[in-house]
Amino acid sequence: MRILAFESSCDETAVAVVEDGRRVLSSEIASQVEVHALYGGVVPEIASRAHIEAIAPLTERALAHAGCRREEIDAVAVTYAPGLIGALLVGVSFAKAFAFALDVPLVPVHHIRGHIAANYLAFPELEPPFLALAVSGGNTLIADVADYTRMKILGSTRDDAAGECFDKAARVLGLPYPGGKPMEDLASQSAGGVYALPLAHVDGAPLDMSFSGLKTAVVNLAHHADQTGEPLDRSALARDFTEAVCEMVVPRAMEAAKQTGRKVLCAAGGVAANRFVRERLMRECGGAGIKLYLPPLSLCGDNAAMIGAQGYYEYLAGHTAGMELNAYATREIE
Ligand code: KG4
Repeated sequence: MRILAFESSCDETAVAVVEDGRRVLSSEIASQVEVHALYGGVVPEIASRAHIEAIAPLTERALAHAGCRREEIDAVAVTYAPGLIGALLVGVSFAKAFAFALDVPLVPVHHIRGHIAANYLAFPELEPPFLALAVSGGNTLIADVADYTRMKILGSTRDDAAGECFDKAARVLGLPYPGGKPMEDLASQSAGGVYALPLAHVDGAPLDMSFSGLKTAVVNLAHHADQTGEPLDRSALARDFTEAVCEMVVPRAMEAAKQTGRKVLCAAGGVAANRFVRERLMRECGGAGIKLYLPPLSLCGDNAAMIGAQGYYEYLAGHTAGMELNAYATREIE
């Protein structure tokens, strides 16, 4: 079954053709990073307009690279939530029109379910049940993936997402947007151990996370150095910050494995590309006898192939939509 998939929840327009949920025939991405970098973050209205400009030519390219005619598409999948509402609406509207014109099923896909499904593309042998640690720009959560379309959140952030926190910390350290990779490079220059950063715990919800205090601490340290002229060890701060993020997410994922008895953990989302996060996960999973799946860097960030992968399983479960499908800025993965 060939699925034409669309992703437009934030600042990447992406279109892909995926076969049977596992084989990527084409995966095209038009990034808007350069436009938003001017403003130090995503400007929603600019994102929506850029999606409108990119989506039609990108679809032609995805079909051409897949060697696929429109009539050979069996279903259309699209990210419908969560994300920037204007940006999501571009993908949803385009996907609806395409599905209507081709008279094929329309399959709505939750963005984070898509991130998790990126693992199916990289690891043919992987099947649920497993635990997923999703760490992206807009969401951070630990989910029990009981089967392809049944998931339960075990813990999630109470405030900022891990990626958002990376981007804000990077910004005050004078690094470009998006800040995740520049922070990783800066952190690699130091062994850290200089700054004691706060790590919040949520009373009564040991698997929940919080990043806003950590973010504020980095902002305050940077502003204090600016105002007083005191030196700031930027690379040590980047390293200590990164270790704090690892400390927030990795032990909680391990605890989730202990609580559920699951022996398989999949990482997902943009922050899963971080080398320190990956190394810490490998170390701790190795020690706990947990099989770890880390998607290749190309599948950690936003793409439409992951939407095509999850779309296939949503279709098999009968989760299709009609022309009334709407987009939602927030929606639980469950
Ligand atoms: O998953 P993603 O592409 O988009 C969302 O679905 O949100 O995640 C984007 C986020 C950004 O905040 C970006 O700074 C972060 O992932 N990111 C990283 C790295 N690469 C991307 N964070 C830390 N280290 C990285 N190497």
